[in-house]
Amino acid sequence: MGTGKGYGKTILFGEHFVVYGLPSIVSALGAYTTADVKVVKGNGWTVKDQRPATPGYKEQKHIEAMQSIANVVNYLKVDIKNQRLEISFAGDLIAASGVGASAAQCTSLARALSETFNLSLDDEKINEAAYEGEKAYHGTPSGIDNTASTYGGLIWFVRNLDVGKNTMDRLHSPRKMLIVIANSGITASTTEVVADVRRLREEDPEKIEKIFGEYRKLAEAARKALLEGDTATIGNLMNQNHEMLQQIKVSGEVNDELVEIALENGAIGAKLTGTGRGGLVIGLAENEDIQEKIAHAIEEKGYSAWKTTVG
Ligand code: MEV
Repeated sequence: MGTGKGYGKTILFGEHFVVYGLPSIVSALGAYTTADVKVVKGNGWTVKDQRPATPGYKEQKHIEAMQSIANVVNYLKVDIKNQRLEISFAGDLIAASGVGASAAQCTSLARALSETFNLSLDDEKINEAAYEGEKAYHGTPSGIDNTASTYGGLIWFVRNLDVGKNTMDRLHSPRKMLIVIANSGITASTTEVVADVRRLREEDPEKIEKIFGEYRKLAEAARKALLEGDTATIGNLMNQNHEMLQQIKVSGEVNDELVEIALENGAIGAKLTGTGRGGLVIGLAENEDIQEKIAHAIEEKGYSAWKTTVG
């Protein structure tokens, strides 16, 4: 028997851009998924998924989830011919589009398998195994979600498009940031949305390269602002990043609506986070009263909202 956990995440800057080797900034969340593995007689594996989830999420992601478990099990070369794995997932991370639920699931499973079979995997190996699992969900994942899920904390992440390691720098902000995470309740397909961006780039490379160039400058400015704890600039850059995400057509109507609600209720900045076309939006608040006000306004419109701290 073994157990493991994987954190959820929120991308502060650079979803989608990160797929193309542009820098991104991600924060792990305090909430996590746990995996328990029990070895019994038989062969193959069974799964009990007890994670709290947005309605419809687990059903929509079922096939991808099964494939991702198979990927992790195969990658770690766990024998499932002469023994049966009883895998169960739980934890306090609400499985939803945008929160890194798939990565948290893969990471927790890799850790639980490592413990069960005494594989003594270090974080780097856990991260690699989780990345294999993520391939079932994303097609071509950048690796940002599993990295946040494995290591935790605030991370500057750049995908290496050639052979070699991705860049992962830990960032330490002098100020904690108060965030509201708004859940649209809509589950998006990351594979589909990522493929649409790729198509758009093929159709109009000049336009997309221009946006990429502007985004690169924005990411550098965001890193500086985070290191200085300059929340006003961070908020402003979040708004600009959201506009760029609109330009590459990954923001759905519901994302724009949630961003509006957050800004109207005092957010310093707001943007979609994760895949987009539903999923989640984050809003940055100056103080706890405003954080509460934003969360309340979002709930009044019938969406759910969580308050969290990053940095
Ligand atoms: C999904 O959380 C983030 C995306 O950028 C995809 C990826 O990085 O693999 C949309």
